[in-house]
Amino acid sequence: MAIDTSPLFQPLRLGEHMTLKNRIVMAPMTRNRSPDGVPGPDVAAYYRRRAENDVALIVTEGVAVAHPSAVGDAGLAEVAVPEMFGEAALDGWRRVVEEVHGAGGLVFPQLWHQGVMRREGSGRYPDAPSMRPSGLWGPPGRRTSSAEAYLADMSEPTRPMTDAEIADVIAAFAKSAAAAKSVGFDGIALHGAHGYLFDTFFWAETNRRDDHFGGDIVGRSRFATEVVRGIREAVGPELPIMFRFSQWKQQDFDARVAGTPAELERWLGVLVDAGVDILDSSTRVFDAPAFEGSDVSLAGWTRKLTGLPTMAVGSIGLEKDLYAQMRPDEGISASNLDRVMARFDRGEFDLVGVGRSLIADPAWAVRAREGKPFEPYTLEALATLQ
Ligand SMILES: Cc1cc2nc3c(=O)[nH]c(=O)nc-3n(C[C@H](O)[C@H](O)[C@H](O)COP(=O)(O)O)c2cc1C
Repeated sequence: MAIDTSPLFQPLRLGEHMTLKNRIVMAPMTRNRSPDGVPGPDVAAYYRRRAENDVALIVTEGVAVAHPSAVGDAGLAEVAVPEMFGEAALDGWRRVVEEVHGAGGLVFPQLWHQGVMRREGSGRYPDAPSMRPSGLWGPPGRRTSSAEAYLADMSEPTRPMTDAEIADVIAAFAKSAAAAKSVGFDGIALHGAHGYLFDTFFWAETNRRDDHFGGDIVGRSRFATEVVRGIREAVGPELPIMFRFSQWKQQDFDARVAGTPAELERWLGVLVDAGVDILDSSTRVFDAPAFEGSDVSLAGWTRKLTGLPTMAVGSIGLEKDLYAQMRPDEGISASNLDRVMARFDRGEFDLVGVGRSLIADPAWAVRAREGKPFEPYTLEALATLQ
């Protein structure tokens, strides 16, 4: 029987100033094809292709904020991650925004600081020290997909961030958010997940600080809340702020910041109080139960506990999760929209984040709307990124 996906193609009003034409969001995915930090016309064309094929909102790949150790080698062969500072990069982003708007879409940049994941001495500013809340990359011996050589390099503890360094990074986010607004972006997305800088403040394993940036989950969220407040001040009241968080880390795929719904409520509560408007609960499988004793997903709990518009993400249109199949040996796809619709229809989430399926096929959303079979996600699609 054909699955009725029409509810996914209903508009969603966000605040007083923005309406998404439907619920399909392109999840942020690093392309690593912006030499010298400048996104070229190919980047604009890549995002335009998705926007003109029914993707309502594009969250760009992670973009370096105006801080010298924001990005570097975190498992990338050569670093060509785009930046959100400097005239050339901002001109490039202006073109990206124009192309996406020209195709009827909206676009948020994902502002990124890799923090502990950046290898010392790598990236465009190799002299800058990497930022680690407590000098720790993460506990050894957990389930991770990182290469042995990288793990060996990262395991040595470094010094904790100083107060001045924390203040600099907070200021860098505000500066880059203001720059993003100036070139026409429709909102700001923050990468608070997957073991990068924000997430190592959240995670007790990597945040051992005894100042007001550490301690309980409220203290460990203070870095994030100060960033959100700084951005709000820089961009004004209207631009939506979307915050991505996750339980899992690249350092430990089984990690948990919140062990219970009550802990999740405290964690997200302070983010919402700081001014977050949309939550992106990053999971590897969108409908995996988040806590024992209930089949509600992390997105479901997020929406229930905060009432904010929430995005679910992870293996939509795919049979294997990111950990199992980032680089597929053979093409993969799955008709799992029945599972998506079951959750969507009972109100677990408002937005559907699509990652690898939109690498596989820029017209994935059109296929979802028309009930057509999906193109497989292949190594070739990942290599060409068209
Ligand atoms: C090639 C690739 C690059 C990614 N880069 C980022 C990134 O820059 N920022 C981020 O938050 N997530 C990143 N992700 C994770 C995706 O946003 C998404 O959460 C994940 O792939 C699960 O969704 P999927 O199963 O639909 O692919 C990346 C994923 C892939 C496959």
